[in-house]
Amino acid sequence: MFHYSDGRYFCDQVDLEVIAREAGTPSYVYSANAILKAYSAYDDAFGAMPHMICYAVKANSSLGVLALLAKAGCGFDIVSGGELQRVLRAGGDPARVVFSGVGKTAAEIELALRSGISNFNCESEAELAEIDGIAWRLGVIGRFSLRVNPDVDAVTHPYISTGLRDHKFGIDIGEARAVYSRSKHFTNLRAAGVACHIGSQILDYSSILEATGKVLALIAELRTDGHLIDHIDLGGGLGIAYERGERAPGIAEFVSAIREQVGTSGLKVMVEPGRSIVGQAGVLLTTVLNRKKTPSKEFVVVDAAMNDLIRPALYKAHHDIFPLKVPVARDVLFADVVGPICETGDFLARDRLLPVLNPGDRLAILTAGAYGFVQASNYNSRPRGPEILVEGDSWRVIRERETFEDLIRGESL
Ligand code: LLP
Repeated sequence: MFHYSDGRYFCDQVDLEVIAREAGTPSYVYSANAILKAYSAYDDAFGAMPHMICYAVKANSSLGVLALLAKAGCGFDIVSGGELQRVLRAGGDPARVVFSGVGKTAAEIELALRSGISNFNCESEAELAEIDGIAWRLGVIGRFSLRVNPDVDAVTHPYISTGLRDHKFGIDIGEARAVYSRSKHFTNLRAAGVACHIGSQILDYSSILEATGKVLALIAELRTDGHLIDHIDLGGGLGIAYERGERAPGIAEFVSAIREQVGTSGLKVMVEPGRSIVGQAGVLLTTVLNRKKTPSKEFVVVDAAMNDLIRPALYKAHHDIFPLKVPVARDVLFADVVGPICETGDFLARDRLLPVLNPGDRLAILTAGAYGFVQASNYNSRPRGPEILVEGDSWRVIRERETFEDLIRGESL
């Protein structure tokens, strides 16, 4: 994990200043140990209860990260054909893949059926018909769960709350039983479970438990109707601490609450955690370019920007920022940390108390392992930085920094 030792900031046994110097900045650094530790926390907490942990690939889809999790036996939650191909390339087992998402194309469905994925989490009756048709043409049977919308408030940022009736996600829980009944007419589909995901960065998981209760009640009805429901998929969403001192529930505590609720139903429990597996395992390294004072404010301009980490601009998200070398002077600075992009929305931190910083100083923007690189863009023709994996005392580049040639690939005059 990330820690200071002798005034220098480390990822496991590697001095981050060394990585910043050799790989340049901006760059993303992930701790393999931290990722595997979070995965094992889920796996161990479920213990003997039948379960499948399907890491939500969208949180961080780097092949090096997926390969690490695949090797540990983790399953995957995907939302596109691209994510499926990544999982397969990384050595993931298709039999441990669930395909979520509110819109799936015919080509994606075909690829998923041909690959032999475990289950489709379906969001409409039209989607069931589409999968059934393709499965019939291929001569296979597709297993599905309906993603139900339980009308439960996840209490998180409105952009990442998904379980309320007016959201685009899932099938209203009140309509689900009838849809399952009608699904019996599909010759090449089999109802295998019920899925639910009410949002992301949920710090009070009582909302997830409330949704679980509603889904369990639905499963009881479906079983009376003769459906062979073998699993419940509770989605992802467990929140993490982004700020020093912020309280976030532990994985073990969360899982034990789920275990208690699902109890002796005989169901296999599936979860789709993304952020809680990779979020705290990554930082974004950046270098101070200059400092700038206006009559009302002070700014620290760095070489990372909203294109590298969009969470502050998009969700007003807080990310702690630490210097890679603790400055000798104790003076502090009250400033915004901003990137070079031509938008006022391009900030990484606002009104932040920081140590005094000078051009050339390097910083780590914390908790950038989830929804960091994956949401990065080339806005302002900025090449995306490298991704680096630290394994104990060694580190390697798992994705190279983009070049100008990468930026214009496929373009013509
Ligand atoms: N399953 C489904 C169906 C999802 O839609 C998501 C996330 C997950 C699992 C994983 O959720 P997690 O465990 O990571 O919370 N870009 C936003 C987060 C968007 C989450 C979208 N869905 C952010 O940076 O906060």
